Amino acid sequence: MATWSAPGKVFLFGEHAVVYGKPGIAMAIKPRVQVTVRHTHHYQRPNSPYIAECFNLLDIKGSVYVRSQLPSASGLGSSAAVTVATLFAINDEFSLGYNKDEVADLAHEVEKITQGGRASATDTYVSTFGGMVLIRGDEKRRLIPPQNFSIVLGNSMISHNTAEQVKKVADFLEKSPKIANPIVDAIGAITMEAMHNMDNLHELGNLMNRNQALLDALGVGHPCLSKLILAARNAGAYGAKLSGAGGGGCIWALCSRGTRNRVVNAIDKYEGKPIATGIDTEGVRKEESL
Ligand code: PMV
Repeated sequence: MATWSAPGKVFLFGEHAVVYGKPGIAMAIKPRVQVTVRHTHHYQRPNSPYIAECFNLLDIKGSVYVRSQLPSASGLGSSAAVTVATLFAINDEFSLGYNKDEVADLAHEVEKITQGGRASATDTYVSTFGGMVLIRGDEKRRLIPPQNFSIVLGNSMISHNTAEQVKKVADFLEKSPKIANPIVDAIGAITMEAMHNMDNLHELGNLMNRNQALLDALGVGHPCLSKLILAARNAGAYGAKLSGAGGGGCIWALCSRGTRNRVVNAIDKYEGKPIATGIDTEGVRKEESL
């Protein structure tokens, strides 16, 4: 039996546009998913298309047990974390001999298959390697996380479906390219600007707010997300935006140490579930099997 765990992530900038080759920035966060894989003849598996696809892709049969600290379908990369931990556990249990980069690539493949052919490598890469990363097409760059990077998450408790939101954007691009393409381009420009302003929290907050406005224009906002985003900004956050596919799920707010508690209380007051978290620098790791 082999047990591996992988962290979730916050999508800091550039979600959706990253699917079309624009840059995206994500950061691994502390809550983790732990997966145990066992070579048995009685196959037991949770009902997850991501786990099923891991086994299909590697043409392997086995049992799986999952423990998750991450809310699912909430923009915190739980599907990617499950996929990464499952593939590493299969690789270990069945001695397949893939290296870390190869397993990260397989995880991206699984996400692409389960998301109807459209998925960036962001979630699976950051869950594998931890830290803060910039993804642009095939380019993957590790970023140095800024000092004083204090964030609060707010879960709207509205679950979303990543594949549906990704398809919605694809349909918009196909039907109205003259409107949708400039929005995607502008999100890409904001992400590059953010990469060059990581230590300037005021500017980063402004860029978050502009990124959010463009995500709303793409059609992936939700009234409950808007409510939490405005509550966080009014409570003194530098900026706030959704994380991940949108249409529900989580927001993240960038705070100073002084405003952190006020932002947590504001999210709570507006019926969100606040989650105080920090960066995970480790990525995927092997755990003791119980
Ligand atoms: O909602 P999540 O955590 O699955 O993030 C999706 C991010 C997208 O950019 C919308 C899709 C992708 O593959 O990058």
